[in-house]
Amino acid sequence: MSDDGLVEVAPEADFEDGDTKVVEVGRAEVGVMKADGEFYALRNQCPHQGGPACEGLVEPRLVGEWKGPGKRVEQHYSDDYIVSCPWHGWSFDVETGEHIGDSSYVLPSYEVVVKDGTVFVSTE
Ligand code: FES
Repeated sequence: MSDDGLVEVAPEADFEDGDTKVVEVGRAEVGVMKADGEFYALRNQCPHQGGPACEGLVEPRLVGEWKGPGKRVEQHYSDDYIVSCPWHGWSFDVETGEHIGDSSYVLPSYEVVVKDGTVFVSTE
């Protein structure tokens, strides 16, 4: 960690959309993800059974609209992105860290700073 409260992650150019890199921030592992051109950082510890939640697939969130009895549920991808824990599939919003089905389960989030072409996580 540097004096300015930033932990270096990687050059910005090393990230493709959907990529995740894991760094140590203090005693926590943090997954830094790129989704739709934006960076997000969440604690890499699933509230289910402690799995590496940020190391799963990063993808747009699939949502359904119930149109009534006997009608098909219409599905589409939203503008929100999720990451799904590779152990049992719990999914979390990459921006808020909230579990998509129960917002009482949250991965703590961290601020991401891109400075001079390098991605950092803020410790503050
Ligand atoms: S440990 Fe993450 S879904 Fe079970």
